[in-house]
Amino acid sequence: MPAQILKPTPENLALAAEAIRRAEVVGMPTETVYGLAGDALNSLSLARIFETKERPTFDPLIVHVGFSCKRVAELDRLGLVAASKLSPEAREVADRLIERFWPGPLTLVLPKQDLVPDLATSGLPTVAIRMPRHSVAQALIAASGTPLAAPSANRFGRISPTSAENVLEELGDRIDWILDGGHCDIGVESTVLAVTESGGLQLLRPGGVSIEELEKTAPVERTSSSKGTAPQVAPGMLASHYAPRKPMLLLSDTLERLKNVPNSLKGQKKIGLLATATPEKRARSLFQSLVGVDPRCISLSESGDLNEAARKLFQSLRALDGLDVSLIVAEPVGREEGLGYAIQDRLRRAAAPRD
Ligand code: TXA
Ligand code: MG
Repeated sequence: MPAQILKPTPENLALAAEAIRRAEVVGMPTETVYGLAGDALNSLSLARIFETKERPTFDPLIVHVGFSCKRVAELDRLGLVAASKLSPEAREVADRLIERFWPGPLTLVLPKQDLVPDLATSGLPTVAIRMPRHSVAQALIAASGTPLAAPSANRFGRISPTSAENVLEELGDRIDWILDGGHCDIGVESTVLAVTESGGLQLLRPGGVSIEELEKTAPVERTSSSKGTAPQVAPGMLASHYAPRKPMLLLSDTLERLKNVPNSLKGQKKIGLLATATPEKRARSLFQSLVGVDPRCISLSESGDLNEAARKLFQSLRALDGLDVSLIVAEPVGREEGLGYAIQDRLRRAAAPRD
């Protein structure tokens, strides 16, 4: 039987929470993307998450906590974070980030305690923690009575789901329940930030909280993996990710500025165009004059709004993937500010060579 999509009524939340307590996994909405949730403190649940997603166990999971965890001391009391391993400066900077960005799309990587199973962290001495702000995610955490580990609810390496229907497409034959929380507000995953023992901040994955926003709290070091140049500096930050089934090509410049048409575009007739910086009509006509083909085109935002573009990114990639096209061509955002940086990171990985 395929998975059932459940409205988040109190009865259905209780049903999903019971499944979590039986070490089953459940599709859960968050404000970023849908997650595949299981009990973060139960190794059997964690094993099921990896198995269901076909995810390699070297790629650690994010632990989702309830509204009450407003300080590092609280995360320590729950047995998740080892506050004693952080300097007073590091604790202070983590508390300021929590105060400013939780609940919301920021994941903090902090030293872990033994209660967190090694499977959750792929054997690392640190654990990734976030407090989602979606009311259904919070209701499920409260009803389950345990923090929830939840990677994005897609099969490994594929496009992240931003609706309950997307989760059904990805994992419908492998799970029983998907809680429906509507379309995700933000549309790209959380920003992953490591807090070092001395209080430095390293960006491991760009996401829903922009670097400009973070830097109002403290300086952030961008690792080469978050720039997309090294395939794997942080675990799980693989070069190829978020990939459609169809081949995908990322142009070297926006359609307005593009000078040279890549050779691999020549001779292609059925093209899906993901316009990220250019309104649809203009994108189609520029593409037609550059390449000589009228593409099927989706523009992420007619007005160039990066929040709207992020919200529509994964569903638009999914839609183009489902069309009768042999190649998806994506336009770079052209602006690495705000959510532009996270969108550009996803496009780069979606178009990266696959093994
Ligand atoms: O928005 C999100 O973060 C979504 C929703 C469902 O909350 N979740 C998500 O999970 O994107 P996932 O598993 O697809 O990505 C988790 C990322 C991985 O890139 C992993 O490498 C990193 O977090 N991560 C987890 N634990 C880590 C750790 N201890 N050190 C460094 N990176 C870690
Ligand atoms: Mg993912």
